[in-house]
Amino acid sequence: MAEFLVEFGKDGGPVAAHGRLDAAAFHRNHQPIWAVLKGFLAGRSGDVLEAGSGTGQHVVYFARQAPDIIWWPSDLHAAHLRSIAAWRAEAGLANIQPPQRIDLSEPAWSVAPPDGRGPDKLLAIFCANVIHIAPWRVAEGLFAGAGRLLRPDGRLFLYGPFKRGGKHTALSNAVFDTILRERDAEWAVRDIADLEKLAESVGLKLAGTFEMPANNMILMFERKDGPQS
Ligand SMILES: C[S@@+](CC[C@H](N)C(=O)[O-])C[C@H]1O[C@@H](n2cnc3c(N)ncnc32)[C@H](O)[C@@H]1O
Repeated sequence: MAEFLVEFGKDGGPVAAHGRLDAAAFHRNHQPIWAVLKGFLAGRSGDVLEAGSGTGQHVVYFARQAPDIIWWPSDLHAAHLRSIAAWRAEAGLANIQPPQRIDLSEPAWSVAPPDGRGPDKLLAIFCANVIHIAPWRVAEGLFAGAGRLLRPDGRLFLYGPFKRGGKHTALSNAVFDTILRERDAEWAVRDIADLEKLAESVGLKLAGTFEMPANNMILMFERKDGPQS
């Protein structure tokens, strides 16, 4: 079944002094996700934002695979920001920026480090397992930011479980959706058609869908008026 954890490190176990949180899902997901991302990112350079980075393990793995790209991790929760910073310190890679607190539900969020310059425009935004464990306004904020911040050739990659045409793509996702809604009435597995409407409203369009293990998908959005690949 798809992931549920909202705040890593809150499962009762002690958090190690180094602060690096370890998500089981990372070990299952990072290679299939990278296999899709590299189809676009390989051979390109620029700035990529990870929205809702969680532990920070994905961004470190991706940064190792793509050293010509500058990676900008971010999250809302303080414990996650600490974990991202700890993984970044351990990796010692020059192409990962310090994590930033970005709340995607704030309509005008931006990539603006308090002590330096942010990127002009983004080559890509990657966001995994966030918009179903958050109110719909987080999806709205994510797309609004993508519309503002992506380069003309930029892409938004969304990873997670999704509904298609109002229907779940697997029984396990339907069960997961019920659990989510019971936990918080504002959470839900989102429908691709609703995300396409959001995309349309900010000048983006769905440019590709990729089936992933465990009934997850990656949705790739690009600018409606951008250069075609
Ligand atoms: C299930 S975790 C996924 C983490 C990571 N992307 C992964 O796939 O392992 C959801 C993440 O979304 C973050 N999040 C929740 N609401 C958010 C918001 N409004 N803005 C930014 N991040 C948010 C949480 O702090 C958490 O790190």
